[in-house]
Amino acid sequence: MTRTVDFLVVGSGIAGLSFALKAAKHGKVLIVTKANEDESNTKYAQGGVAVVVDKKEDSFEKHINDTLIAGDGLCDPAVVEAVVKEGPDRIREIIDYGTNFDKTNEGIYDLAKEGGHSEFRVLHYKDITGFEIERSLLEEIHREPNIEILTHYFAVDLITQHHLGEFVDKSSDNIKCYGIYAFNTETSQVEKIESKITVMASGGAGHIYSVTTNPVIATGDGVAMVYRAKGKVRNMEFIQFHPTALYNPGEYPSFLISEAVRGMGGVLKRTNGEEFMQEYDPRKSLAPRDIVARAIDAEIKKSGEDFVYLDIRHKKKKEILEHFPNIYAKCLEIGIDMTRDMIPVAPACHYMCGGVMVDHQGRSSINRLYACGECSSTGLHGANRLASNSLLEALVFAHRIYKDAIVDFASLEIPVNIPDWDEHGVQLSNEDILVTHNIREMQKLMNDYVGIVRSDFRLERAMRRLRLLYEETEDFYKKTKLSVKLCELRNLIQVSYLVVKSATARHESRGLHFTTDYPDHQEILEDTVF
Ligand code: SIN
Repeated sequence: MTRTVDFLVVGSGIAGLSFALKAAKHGKVLIVTKANEDESNTKYAQGGVAVVVDKKEDSFEKHINDTLIAGDGLCDPAVVEAVVKEGPDRIREIIDYGTNFDKTNEGIYDLAKEGGHSEFRVLHYKDITGFEIERSLLEEIHREPNIEILTHYFAVDLITQHHLGEFVDKSSDNIKCYGIYAFNTETSQVEKIESKITVMASGGAGHIYSVTTNPVIATGDGVAMVYRAKGKVRNMEFIQFHPTALYNPGEYPSFLISEAVRGMGGVLKRTNGEEFMQEYDPRKSLAPRDIVARAIDAEIKKSGEDFVYLDIRHKKKKEILEHFPNIYAKCLEIGIDMTRDMIPVAPACHYMCGGVMVDHQGRSSINRLYACGECSSTGLHGANRLASNSLLEALVFAHRIYKDAIVDFASLEIPVNIPDWDEHGVQLSNEDILVTHNIREMQKLMNDYVGIVRSDFRLERAMRRLRLLYEETEDFYKKTKLSVKLCELRNLIQVSYLVVKSATARHESRGLHFTTDYPDHQEILEDTVF
């Protein structure tokens, strides 16, 4: 089956949905998503959206400065300025779509604070901000006749000139994207979706690690697809570990304890009840995430315990329940009353700061292909993302992409000779368990050798093991009928490979990349591009 559309969006989080709503005023939009329509990292964002609202205390300059400091020298200052300054207009749009943010009794927005922020500027809806944004965007999407959503369709590969039999060279600036091949999980058939413009908004890759706050769909599909199609990816070594995932052995993925808990005064403590963050940074528990996660990692290694505590017991019960009803309920489920007990927490993989390299309009190195949201590398986050900046980035770049894409999409042609997916020679597998084994093996090696503290020795080990997994998986892929699990494994291995390759190439410690072999900054500021 072949579909042809003007705008194809891969992914149904904040990036994809907000682009789709705008593009639909100009042409037919198709959103393809591999799970239910609301399943995305967006839905699980607790803390909120950082944006300058209160111009008395806060300012664009302060937000810009906080973002640049967190990014540890690698942010693109023009992108930081654009996201911070265009952010308020984009937030007004989603408020108009019906997104609610909490207000105080006086009727003004109740702003929270998170690590690395010098002011209270995080708009939130209780502790389920992402869920609320996803809800309101989807409601708006359902009102739009020009948008169709295909759920449970897995994007397998981008269609480029390669599929027309032409040689595609990575260094060429003339690679073109004509859409995707997508696996319909209901029929188990691969379908062809042709598009004039494609927007990759497929989210992150938390599941390259076995400990992550991300939902199970976060398998790096977009980055892997773009890299396979010979597009450029950037700064993949910068994987953000959230300092405070709930320590609850056996739970997968991990439940997030929002940074907003520390923003409201939560304090990190050793298991003997002593505070420790003052030994690592003057900003203590509210230092940027890279610093807090490394400090907790060091404490865990020293003590031999698997967690530290987060203590918010000194706050009024009413205040805790009002701000964190979801976190409170979750903790209570496992026997922790956060108004009376300290919460056991440990770092978990949370956010991919690198991704598909894009320019200031969100254009990737492949023509007609844009990337937006967590799968993209815009230059905003640098070496470490400032908390709650990602939803804002997605809104601002979705708008920029929309502005750019509508200019000449109407005149773009799609070649008539794009072949159907070829699955000659493949067989049904009766060994799917091997895929599960390989995923577990890969996640474990990433945990063991490519975690918060790295070294050349560990990275070499990781690469050797990844190569073997890569070869086995590619061999299996060539012979076997497609399944979502197999495609995800391929993508996870591809992304892990890019993380290890990029980490190996960076001979310094910066932001989220810390290596014992090169503990300092190098003088030259460089992106890692493959
Ligand atoms: C959190 O609520 O701590 C997560 C917010 C974010 O990752 O930006």
